[in-house]
Amino acid sequence: MTNEYFKDKICIVTGANSGIGYALSEELLNRGATVYMAGRDPAKVATAAGQLSAHGDRVRTLIVDVTNQKQVQAAIEGTAAKAGRLDMLFNNAGVGGTTQYETATLEDWRNIIDTNVWSVIYGTHAAVPIMLRQGSGHVVNTGSISGLVPVPFQSLYSLTKFGVVGFSECLRYEYAEKGIAFSVVCPSFIASAIYNKTMDGKAHGELRMPDDAYPADRAASYVLDRVAERRGIIIVPEEPNTGIWRGYVKGDPDVEAFALRMAHDRRVALETKGTFF
Ligand SMILES: NC(=O)c1ccc[n+]([C@@H]2O[C@H](COP(=O)([O-])OP(=O)(O)OC[C@H]3O[C@@H](n4cnc5c(N)ncnc54)[C@H](OP(=O)(O)O)[C@@H]3O)[C@@H](O)[C@H]2O)c1
Repeated sequence: MTNEYFKDKICIVTGANSGIGYALSEELLNRGATVYMAGRDPAKVATAAGQLSAHGDRVRTLIVDVTNQKQVQAAIEGTAAKAGRLDMLFNNAGVGGTTQYETATLEDWRNIIDTNVWSVIYGTHAAVPIMLRQGSGHVVNTGSISGLVPVPFQSLYSLTKFGVVGFSECLRYEYAEKGIAFSVVCPSFIASAIYNKTMDGKAHGELRMPDDAYPADRAASYVLDRVAERRGIIIVPEEPNTGIWRGYVKGDPDVEAFALRMAHDRRVALETKGTFF
């Protein structure tokens, strides 16, 4: 499949070695882009890129820890210098975090803010001057449905993702007349390794994916269709999440009851099973 919006475009995807980032990379390649797959672990990045080797030299790799400003700056500027341009940056790397507020440490707060917020600021800080010089570009940040609707037991994660949504939306209007587009992807329950990791991004125990998790490849295809339309907020899967979001904004009593029920169910699950799902 090709899609003119992506064909021959130079794209960087962070967190590309797994989950949504991998699926976005594959779908971008399917649509004709050159993709710099960025990750912090050289072995994981090499394996992921190797799985997409059928796309030949349109698959590139970058080793970068997104919490390190110098590494992010060098990776983005180096790519633009080598490729001659940077068309799209997907600030996608992130960590999850469903936890009880009172058990979170300040170290947990710092880690999740570094990974989910500073990474997006670092990436955007490096990309915008390049895109301004070009007079074109598209920054696609990965937020979350937890950045639109409060999800009980996700206060740390929500803080980061509400920030990413607000940041992206402000810049969408600020740069609308400068040729730079901004989108923010707000996923909900996409099948990925995130459900097997703690807030520090380390894998633990068995995979506890929600039963109704949505396939990452379908999510990526839907997301890129909306990116090509230059949509601002991209909720995936669209329903019931868009309805829940609109209901929350309007003060719908059903959404209020839904959030209170979720808080109750999660507290009971935590107390009886030691897990939220
Ligand atoms: N899956 C969902 O249901 C869901 C819902 C809402 C939002 N999201 C968001 O979607 C994005 C992708 O998550 P995912 O679900 O695809 O989970 P994932 O499979 O765990 O992918 C996260 C990716 O981010 C990378 N990463 C984490 N910290 C990094 C760092 N400091 N430097 C460089 N790379 C780093 C990970 O690399 P390593 O493999 O080296 O750890 C991994 O490749 C995240 O921003 C997440 O918050 C996901």
